[in-house]
Amino acid sequence: MTSDEFRRHGHAVVDWIADYRDRIESFPVLSQVKPGEVRAALPPSAPRQGEPFAALLKDVEKIILPGITHWQSPNFFAYFPSNNSAPSILGDLLSSGLGVQGMLWSTSPACTELETHVLDWLIPMLGLPEKFLSSSTGGGVIQDTASSAVLCALLAGRERATSFTSNEKGCDGRLIAYASTQTHSSLEKAAMIAGIGRTNLRLIEVDKDFAMRPEALARQIETDHSAGLIPCFVCATVGTTSSNAIDPVAEIGRICRQHNLWLHVDAAMSGTAALCPEFRPIHNGVELADSYCFNPHKWMFTNFDCDCFWVADHKALMQTLSILPEYLRNQATESGAVIDYRDWHIQLGRRFRALKLWFVIRHYGVEGLQHHIRRHVQLAQQFANWVKNDDRFELAAPVPLNLVCFRHKGGDAVNQKIMEALNTSGDLYLTHTKLDGKFTLRVCVGQTNTEERHVEHAWKRIQEEAAGAR
Ligand SMILES: Cc1ncc(COP(=O)(O)O)c(C=O)c1O
Repeated sequence: MTSDEFRRHGHAVVDWIADYRDRIESFPVLSQVKPGEVRAALPPSAPRQGEPFAALLKDVEKIILPGITHWQSPNFFAYFPSNNSAPSILGDLLSSGLGVQGMLWSTSPACTELETHVLDWLIPMLGLPEKFLSSSTGGGVIQDTASSAVLCALLAGRERATSFTSNEKGCDGRLIAYASTQTHSSLEKAAMIAGIGRTNLRLIEVDKDFAMRPEALARQIETDHSAGLIPCFVCATVGTTSSNAIDPVAEIGRICRQHNLWLHVDAAMSGTAALCPEFRPIHNGVELADSYCFNPHKWMFTNFDCDCFWVADHKALMQTLSILPEYLRNQATESGAVIDYRDWHIQLGRRFRALKLWFVIRHYGVEGLQHHIRRHVQLAQQFANWVKNDDRFELAAPVPLNLVCFRHKGGDAVNQKIMEALNTSGDLYLTHTKLDGKFTLRVCVGQTNTEERHVEHAWKRIQEEAAGAR
């Protein structure tokens, strides 16, 4: 593809994306294809000869688009959002255009330094402790996902608790990690990968609001200590996936400090809310944490993937993950004056993700970001009020931010029927969880372009389906 052709096709792709964004509400939010339908429309083998670019775009429209669930639709209320924005898309495109691989500072200094700088910007923006700053003992890095962040944190906690010997000798089955019953499943996976073992992950009971009970955590740690085991790690969550519960981080932190356990705080979606001073109390106690993460790729208008992960002691993380083969040796690394992010995560290679995050922050400004987050929270609170005032429904959990968990009083089957009818209608997309053993509907407001009319429409459609569901 020549530069001229690239220019022409590139403009066509950007036009296509802009049109897609304009017509997104005309598509069913949840893809309506059947399993295998997309593959059946594709040729069984790769083309022998190259094809014209226009044919590729045509097939995107014809074959791919029907198989897309429209995460960027303002009528998407499922799971947690994965919102994006025009500046982020353009930042991601630039990152592809530059095509750098930033494993070492020397393999692209701007890739490392912009990342360090933007992660430092975010500390005061989110009210996070200064120990996470790169100028302190800590520092931040962009991980692909919160799953990778918790794995890195768990590995560092494991190493610190064993004086950095588990990397050498492996684990002996005595290391114990702790989280609540509501913690995201990525921790269970991390416990499997890190050699802690699933049975050595203690799931601590929660209170009526689904937040971890610190006294139960303390009791379990004592029991494990007495049994000769080695407690090493606690994960607290700010905004659990099921119900947005906020664990009491300060109390959990004090217990961790008393027993010298690594405390990781997972604020994957809800951390973004701390951009607004009125929601910043969700970060109370984070000053006691050893690590913290949140995902701009969930609620901060930044294309997937982008998880920001900070540690209080970067040396502990680097000692856990660093390995230096001859072919990566270079002067800058040896000078000790630079950060090599390959030592801060699992994989070696890394994309220039900081560009899109930088674009988002500069495009919106802190006040612009605050405006959108406030709007989402207000819309969710309004939705929660509608639920409260309708006798047929009940709220299933507190609504601290932008997630409403609720159910029809008619029981599990009725709620399931309402959800399936809504999702197959294509008008909106919502998902469920189980709280107190009951099927519970979830409406999470967080798409970039969700406005009051979309939330109103969602409630109207829910009421209509409720009237028909018995
Ligand atoms: C609280 C929490 N932690 C972790 C995750 C995993 O996120 P990721 O896809 O970035 O690994 C999620 C996903 O929804 C989450 O809600």
